[in-house]
Amino acid sequence: MRTILVEVVKPVRRLTNLAASFSAHCSPWIGLIIIIHAAGCDGAQSALEPAGRSAEKIARLFWWMAIGAGVIWTAMVGLALYATLVSPRPKSRPASLQIIVGGAVVPTVVLSFLLAYGLAMMPDMLAPAPEGSLKIAVTGEQWWWRVRYESSTGEPIVLANEIRLPVDEPVEFQLESADVIHSFWIPSLGGKVDMIPGRQTRLKLEPTRAGVFRGACAEYCGGSHALMTFVVVVSSKRDFEVWLEQQRAPAKTPIEPMAMLGEKVFFKSGCGACHAVRGTAAKGVIGPDLTHVGGRMSLGAGTLPNDAENFVRWLTQTQTIKPEVHMPSFNMLSQGDLRALATYLDALE
Ligand code: CUA
Repeated sequence: MRTILVEVVKPVRRLTNLAASFSAHCSPWIGLIIIIHAAGCDGAQSALEPAGRSAEKIARLFWWMAIGAGVIWTAMVGLALYATLVSPRPKSRPASLQIIVGGAVVPTVVLSFLLAYGLAMMPDMLAPAPEGSLKIAVTGEQWWWRVRYESSTGEPIVLANEIRLPVDEPVEFQLESADVIHSFWIPSLGGKVDMIPGRQTRLKLEPTRAGVFRGACAEYCGGSHALMTFVVVVSSKRDFEVWLEQQRAPAKTPIEPMAMLGEKVFFKSGCGACHAVRGTAAKGVIGPDLTHVGGRMSLGAGTLPNDAENFVRWLTQTQTIKPEVHMPSFNMLSQGDLRALATYLDALE
């Protein structure tokens, strides 16, 4: 009887010692790793804090997959511990049965359930937006986003690197690329879709709560790929319509002397060859439309917060802030002209 007890206690003690040693050596690191990873679970670009119908489904699928992976991992680790510590003589046990159950049956059952669950979501997520939905055309360019709101009553409204949406309304994005493959992704609102040169892809989204979110390019597209982001503002339908009406209007004529000088610097420096400012002679289409650039939340496609100080930084250190971007650094301008130009652009709200 005593021999049997010792035989039972031995592996248990081995397991306890192993767990204690693992805990003493690894727990500070595991804690740190968990904290670092958990920090990515909320915020303006988190797929785990959904703010859209598709994102809610994707988050639910993620949690089911995490549970499924946890079940498989626990079964595998349990079998490994059993084989090495409790039953180190596999020849005397039906090892093939354990391999078949743990290595084939459990993963097949769990993965089949997850496949069926995931596929069942697809038809709704891929269905087109209902007739009459808001339509927004977005073109990915190295390394910024051209955004166009289609209008049934006149010219489309063109802006850059910022998208505003009404809450609880479906919207259809018509996605294109002007150069290489980009990928349009607003993790808080839904899944991502590639933007392929010469082709139009579509994405239906429906925000479920107001807030400010972050979108990003999810396909490597060259040197400044990581600096190709945009802001998404979801607000009430009324606030959205007020904003859209304001975007439709031509640029304000500057009235401050500094901004008036800045406008002269803008045209003297040839900025209008690449940029448009509606209501003026600037009609360039190579770079972002600047009609209401001062009212946007960021500069350089999410690279800098938008204020007059950062306009000066952006104009003079363009190639340092965003390497390889098509716009040259304008560091040949005098300090006075730079300040005036920044004041003019900042006032274009
Ligand atoms: Cu565009 Cu990466």
